[in-house]
Amino acid sequence: MSTKTWTAVDDYIVCSLFEADPVLDAVLAANRDNGLPAIDVSAAQGKLLSLLARIGGAKKALEIGTLGGYSTIWMARGLPADGKVVTLELDPHHAKVARSNFERAGVADRVELRVGPALQSLAALGNENAGPFDLIFIDADKPNNPNYLSWALRLSRSGTVIVCDNVIRDGAVLDEDGRDANVEGARAAFSFIGGEKRLDGTAIQTVGAKGYDGFAIAIVD
Ligand code: SAH
Ligand code: DHB
Ligand code: MG
Repeated sequence: MSTKTWTAVDDYIVCSLFEADPVLDAVLAANRDNGLPAIDVSAAQGKLLSLLARIGGAKKALEIGTLGGYSTIWMARGLPADGKVVTLELDPHHAKVARSNFERAGVADRVELRVGPALQSLAALGNENAGPFDLIFIDADKPNNPNYLSWALRLSRSGTVIVCDNVIRDGAVLDEDGRDANVEGARAAFSFIGGEKRLDGTAIQTVGAKGYDGFAIAIVD
């Protein structure tokens, strides 16, 4: 089984289950035209984020790592009209592209984008008592995964769902040698979730248009 098959099956999933989505196509085109790396979640994964928001009846979502806002838009679509996603992005260029994508997708009124190092933005959200968030998606610099999980807990309530992206990395998550900081970040997410009594979690390996990777998903007790 190859990436080619995984991508074809992802296309089949999208064609069978989703309406045509010129807005999201335009978002990905804008990202490409502006030189953003194509490391957004896949459409099938984005829809999962949207469904998780709906399944949990989420009103407030938090995202760490916006890029061009592709995953943000999927989450915003899963929230009620008075819902809100707060999304955190370090890179001002990514933030600028994301803002225009939020306008394009008609979700700008439901998205608050904060630019800067996420750890600073998270501390500010803590000071402002901005929580609790109902759904939290962690998808930024992987070495900070344990710090982001720790903040996610502080900004959560019992029942908050936390999703952490890219925790499998082609199976490299098994490498114990410590040579790859992103893999160490994935392993740190497992250590954190496994070692934290307030979190009950699992991880799902995924294949598809974005290769072989996976999500960790946990609920706050
Ligand atoms: N969630 C997006 C993809 C995010 S890619 C999607 O699926 O559509 C990771 C993003 O995290 C990049 O835009 C990168 O600039 C950002 N990032 C990296 N380090 C960061 C930090 N310390 N604080 C905030 N964002 C950071
Ligand atoms: C990378 C980051 C991501 O968030 C992702 O989904 C895929 C790849 C990366 O930094 O390589
Ligand atoms: Mg990711």
